Amino acid sequence: MDDLSIFPNSTTINEKGHLTIAGYDLVDLANQYGTPLYVYEGATIRTQIDRLNHLFKRYYPGEALLAYASKAYLSFQFAKKLAKWGIGLDVVSLGEIRIAQMAGFHPSVVHLHGNNKSEAELMAALDWGIQAIVVDNLEELEILEQIASRSQKRARIWLRITPDLSVDTHPHIQTAHLDSKFGLHLENGEAEEALQRCLSSPWVDLSGIHAHLGSQIFDSEPYRMAIERLCEFAARNNYIPPEISPGGGWGVRYTAEDPADDPEQWVRTVSGAVQEAAIRYDWPYPRLVLEPGRWLVARAGVAVYQVGSQKTTPSNTRLVAIDGGLADNPRVALYQARYTAKVVERPAEPPSQTVRVVGKFCESGDVLIPQVNLPTLKRGDHLAIPASGAYQLSMASNYNYAARPTVLWLEQGQIEILQQREQPDQSSWLVYSGENL
Ligand SMILES: Cc1ncc(COP(=O)(O)O)c(C=O)c1O
Repeated sequence: MDDLSIFPNSTTINEKGHLTIAGYDLVDLANQYGTPLYVYEGATIRTQIDRLNHLFKRYYPGEALLAYASKAYLSFQFAKKLAKWGIGLDVVSLGEIRIAQMAGFHPSVVHLHGNNKSEAELMAALDWGIQAIVVDNLEELEILEQIASRSQKRARIWLRITPDLSVDTHPHIQTAHLDSKFGLHLENGEAEEALQRCLSSPWVDLSGIHAHLGSQIFDSEPYRMAIERLCEFAARNNYIPPEISPGGGWGVRYTAEDPADDPEQWVRTVSGAVQEAAIRYDWPYPRLVLEPGRWLVARAGVAVYQVGSQKTTPSNTRLVAIDGGLADNPRVALYQARYTAKVVERPAEPPSQTVRVVGKFCESGDVLIPQVNLPTLKRGDHLAIPASGAYQLSMASNYNYAARPTVLWLEQGQIEILQQREQPDQSSWLVYSGENL
């Protein structure tokens, strides 16, 4: 059978030869809900969460918390499910805070990130009493102290420390290097200044330290180095961190050529590094907080497009145009993300041609897959793109006034709409374009 291992767990081929997820024929779903269509398989996400929780139990003797990095994908309906499952949440904006509140998250499992939080965001987080406002810079620390003093409320915070090391991933998704815009750098003394200030401030309660190295990382060694640097820094400043978070960032497979994405190496390494530091510095085990985004949701999501025009360029490139692209998935244009595709109607048919899959938007850079081997295609066929669950819908735009797509949640025998397709005549678009209603 064809390699479906980067698709959601239940993906299979039915008696008609069509691709199915959770027992649903994707041809039927595409016909019923239109395309572009995004589907998430619920069981795949639950399996990913269970796997990480199980690894925590196996490798970390202290308390641990999974906090989903909601920037990977968030919608109100999805947030309600996450809240029910008891997972923590990493948010970065007032919008994400509001969704978390409305979805029923307890503030004690929510933390707020961002390199330039607005006063409104800081106030909302302080009022709600979240687990931690993750302070990014000295200026923010000062503003937060002022807000806390005005509200007569101590702010529970972590410091985001930039360990000044680089990791092997695309430059646009590295966040811990010397030139990073994120966090308080160790190299230039900012981190130390912030820590000392926190320890003497009546308005902040420093409950932990944090680092995030970047995204799509397959090697756990940089995590070990980052934790060692953070802990050495804390110990040198006589600070015992009740919580430590080495962020998220574990990689996922987008194509069959990508390395294995088993997170055991990740959890074992971070757990071991925190444990060793606690023993070395004679600390109680800090609570360990991991913030996976991509690893929890990427594999569960599949994008389904319809094939439209096809042509061959004078330089002999065969182009296949689909009815989505850059507007629902800017990852390729942003950082040359790589994808593969299956023909939904004939996933088992062997490839007969090499094509470039292009989007329908008015940018030459709107290329979804620069080169992929596929069978002969006809207009109306559908393409399924696996590993589409992270940083696609959450980064989708209305470029060319494209409507953001329908998003479905699939469980065996049960289908739910997470997001309705936007309508071209919806009133907010008319207001936005200056129409007098
Ligand atoms: C602070 C922080 N934590 C966690 C994540 C999640 O990363 P990933 O989705 O690669 O796991 C991000 C992503 O940018 C982040 O900025």
